[in-house]
Amino acid sequence: MAKDDRLYHIGFGKADLGLRMPEIAMLSGDPNRASLIARGYLTDVKVLSENRGLHSYLGLLPNGRPILSATSGMGAPSLSIVVNELVQIGIKAIIRIGTTGSIQEYIKAGSIVISHAALCRQGAANDIAPEEYPAVADPLLTVDLVHAARELTVPYHMGITASVDTFYEGQERSASSANPYLLRRIQGMTEEYRRLNVLNYEMECATLFKMGSVYGFAAACVCGVIAERAEAETVVYEQKEAAVTNAIRVAVLSASRYQP
Ligand code: URA
Repeated sequence: MAKDDRLYHIGFGKADLGLRMPEIAMLSGDPNRASLIARGYLTDVKVLSENRGLHSYLGLLPNGRPILSATSGMGAPSLSIVVNELVQIGIKAIIRIGTTGSIQEYIKAGSIVISHAALCRQGAANDIAPEEYPAVADPLLTVDLVHAARELTVPYHMGITASVDTFYEGQERSASSANPYLLRRIQGMTEEYRRLNVLNYEMECATLFKMGSVYGFAAACVCGVIAERAEAETVVYEQKEAAVTNAIRVAVLSASRYQP
């Protein structure tokens, strides 16, 4: 193994990937989810690295195609580092598999949201492209996620996601936060987004989408709904497993047939 070919943060390099290079990666915020996907949905799994909690696995999809299950960490700064290094090792398509809080009353916990674009309130993205640069998903991969959700009869919604940098302040949480005071510009923001037909809050996909357009890889995002922000600030724990399983199944099916 060529040690010096390893990327600093993800902890592995091209030499670790063998002869059949993966071109697609599934990217989770949570290292346990990256491990669950690899061990539960892939075969011939190889642990590439568990460096800095950024667990990465190489495995085979049901059709025999190699794929990575990797960890982005929480938030856009961490995601931007991991994605940069995944592009350096040759990844051509990334599906983020995340969790999210819906802000529309009709989007229930346990369902999934497929984002075709994102409202970008993320500082890291400004180091990659101008603020006004569109945060759009790859259209073909996104449509295929929708087809996959229909085939698997997973309850889904497709639309615009708000990607913000903070879970508490930026998503207008006050009752469950250490600091109940919210900046004036954030007060009422969830209601404003609701009226603008934004579907949900999460913390990574806008930066991923901008990186996809700038760096030339296909980016998509599917998130399991674990909070109903039209009702409460809290996570609906009883629905978390269903939400995450739904998002993973849809992503795996779509990844199986994606042609970079
Ligand atoms: N992830 C978020 O960013 N917000 C939520 O409410 C749930 C998951």
